[in-house]
Amino acid sequence: MVDNQINPADSPSVPHDAGRSNEGSKGHNGLLPDQLQRPSEISNQDVDMVDSSQGATLDLTPNSTSACQQTVLDSTPSALKASAEPVSKEPQYHEQPYPPFARGNTIGDSVSVEERGRIWQNYKPDKYFLPNDAIEQDRLDFAHKSYSMILNLMKGADAYADPDDALSLAPITGDPPRVLDIGTGTGIWAIEYARRHPLSKVIGSDLSLIQPDVSAEVPNVSFVREDVEDEWIHDTSFDFIHLRLMFTCFINHKDVIQKAFDNLNPGGWIEYQDCSFNIDSDDNTHRGTALHQWGHLAIAGAAAKGRDIEAARKYKRYMEEIGFVDVVERPFKLFGNSWPRTQPEKTIGRFTEVSGKEVIRSVSAKLLGEGLGISENKLQEIVAQSQKDAVNRKIHFYWPGYVVYGRKPVDNRSVPQSE
Ligand SMILES: C[S@@+](CC[C@H](N)C(=O)[O-])C[C@H]1O[C@@H](n2cnc3c(N)ncnc32)[C@H](O)[C@@H]1O
Repeated sequence: MVDNQINPADSPSVPHDAGRSNEGSKGHNGLLPDQLQRPSEISNQDVDMVDSSQGATLDLTPNSTSACQQTVLDSTPSALKASAEPVSKEPQYHEQPYPPFARGNTIGDSVSVEERGRIWQNYKPDKYFLPNDAIEQDRLDFAHKSYSMILNLMKGADAYADPDDALSLAPITGDPPRVLDIGTGTGIWAIEYARRHPLSKVIGSDLSLIQPDVSAEVPNVSFVREDVEDEWIHDTSFDFIHLRLMFTCFINHKDVIQKAFDNLNPGGWIEYQDCSFNIDSDDNTHRGTALHQWGHLAIAGAAAKGRDIEAARKYKRYMEEIGFVDVVERPFKLFGNSWPRTQPEKTIGRFTEVSGKEVIRSVSAKLLGEGLGISENKLQEIVAQSQKDAVNRKIHFYWPGYVVYGRKPVDNRSVPQSE
């Protein structure tokens, strides 16, 4: 058991409470941290903020060592602000330790443990590879912004339509009565979906209970703790099941999709919005970089721990094999940093850079350390070099993304949606 409250003062460089409050009052809107800049505010902060001349290359020989620069997420709201301050030409790293505990307004889960200076869920020990503390909660909220803007782009809508960024692509009309958000994280998607669909009852489920009590403002959303790979605890069937960023989470992805199928009402929809660590670029600038190697190591480390984290590109096949119809896969490029020259791609990249750089650090202990047995010193070296690449705008990389949705047939036959 840990002190699971987060103290913003311990980590000045991250937007700690992400606008969440356990008190469930005081204007929480389920959206991004108040401090976050709207895209229109940061769009003028164009190129030349953090370029390195070339990607870092890792020396993975067993004896090679180097001093590790402990870096922290330089993703303060101020880092995203279009400010009057001179623009730095170099990557900005800060030598700060992690805050050991969650304090302040960020919501901690008492069923947690501290390990390596981070807080991890302990409902199912070792089941999940990422922490559940303040830094992770903020990372998830930045990722929410990237994904909702990308979905707007994919819809052909105005990517700056905030606060009405898109939440899904499946052709669902109206308010589906019962909605389940599996692995809801901070609950940011579930809260926003409930707010915009007042006739829907939305449940967010997760291993960690780190979601705010918003019952006063958004009474149609609730949260439960569950391991979705266990027998489902819900006493209802659903009309829409949503999963985002779950590619590292499951021992058996297909089995989760089968459970979703079994617990959907006829005609109900499932939608994944997911990603891959197998980073890519259209001009090969990612090749040979430390970041490129990091992605391969992370995938190998997960495999060593029995996880297929390359599952997202298989969701479509899994859905079809299970019996979903009208299955659509829409691959997308989640721009890794602000390298794109056009808007809104550049702005999406700026949000993704924050969450991407942090995930490199936070997931590496489990995947590269535990999975592949890479030493702590080497691990820190890999992380530092990969994070440097992640903010290098000369590396035109993206995280391959996938939106995949499908519908449970209205009866046992495959019925085209138009019927
Ligand atoms: C990368 S986060 C994504 C959070 C959220 N879907 C979002 O996009 O903001 C993955 C979440 O899934 C949860 N999770 C992992 N394995 C799970 C499982 N077996 N059952 C339920 N939740 C799980 C984690 O606790 C974490 O909150």
